[in-house]
Amino acid sequence: MAAPLQSVTVLAPAKLNLSLDVVGLLPGGYHALDMVMQAVDLYEQVILRRSGRLTLRAPGSRVPLNEKNTAHKAALAFFHYTGLLAGADITLRKNTPVRAGMGGGSADAAAVLVGLNALYAARLSMSELCALGASIGADVPFALMGGTCRVQGLGDLLKPLPPCPDCWFTAVMPGYGISTPAAFAAYDRVGSPFHPDCAAQEAAIRAGDLAGLCAAAGNALETCAGGADTAALKQALLAQGARAALMTGSGAVVFGIFEAEGPARAAAGALQATGRQVYTLRPDRGGARVVRAGR
Ligand code: C5P
Repeated sequence: MAAPLQSVTVLAPAKLNLSLDVVGLLPGGYHALDMVMQAVDLYEQVILRRSGRLTLRAPGSRVPLNEKNTAHKAALAFFHYTGLLAGADITLRKNTPVRAGMGGGSADAAAVLVGLNALYAARLSMSELCALGASIGADVPFALMGGTCRVQGLGDLLKPLPPCPDCWFTAVMPGYGISTPAAFAAYDRVGSPFHPDCAAQEAAIRAGDLAGLCAAAGNALETCAGGADTAALKQALLAQGARAALMTGSGAVVFGIFEAEGPARAAAGALQATGRQVYTLRPDRGGARVVRAGR
């Protein structure tokens, strides 16, 4: 029998919402959503080592490392569910902007679940991991599954789609973040004048039709989220040749969808010149996964 693993390194992709609609209000104040989510090649890297205690570090990041941290919640949920009397030393190398709508906190939780499952050879299935993930945050099941999915319910009903048509994304983080609960509270007050057609977007993805994907792109939280620069960033991306431009999640990141690398990089260059954090991204076909294991 092979010696037990001592450490694992997990990569968990950030995400963009190709569409986001609010379709109802659920008991408890949560919202029923309809979305198409896309994993992208910007990764949280999470290193987990066997330990008798649970420790969490995030060098260079200012995210709080207390019991509200999604990585901490994921570790507790894993040990509670499996009944393992163990811990882990967890290091988060965060690359995804926070309060951005790119699912960085959910990616961290997904990485911890996948990492502990491998480290302790617990053999939890994807559906068990997704159920644990849903108890931590609405976007964690998608962070586990990755690729391209139609996502409904609270974020827990996932339908994997074929990979989205080949494209490039230029994503811009404005000089502020947006709180998800605040964006949903604002939605409850003012609603949205716009609702994207997620079913049409799913059909376009199934047909490999990038123009159709772009025509159906949109975000019902965009106006109520109150991002001061959202409209201007969308205009700037469209002026640079984006086929569609929209906010992701509850913001604050705004991104453009481009057919080709050249215009995507040119747009990134132009927006970088304004001093903002800019990312040129490609679709990723997976979710959180172990990339290295040490015995
Ligand atoms: O589940 P998560 O912690 O990511 O959600 C953050 C907040 O976003 C929730 O506290 C809730 O206010 C809001 N939310 C919602 N409906 C959803 C997902 C999130 O109202 N389906």
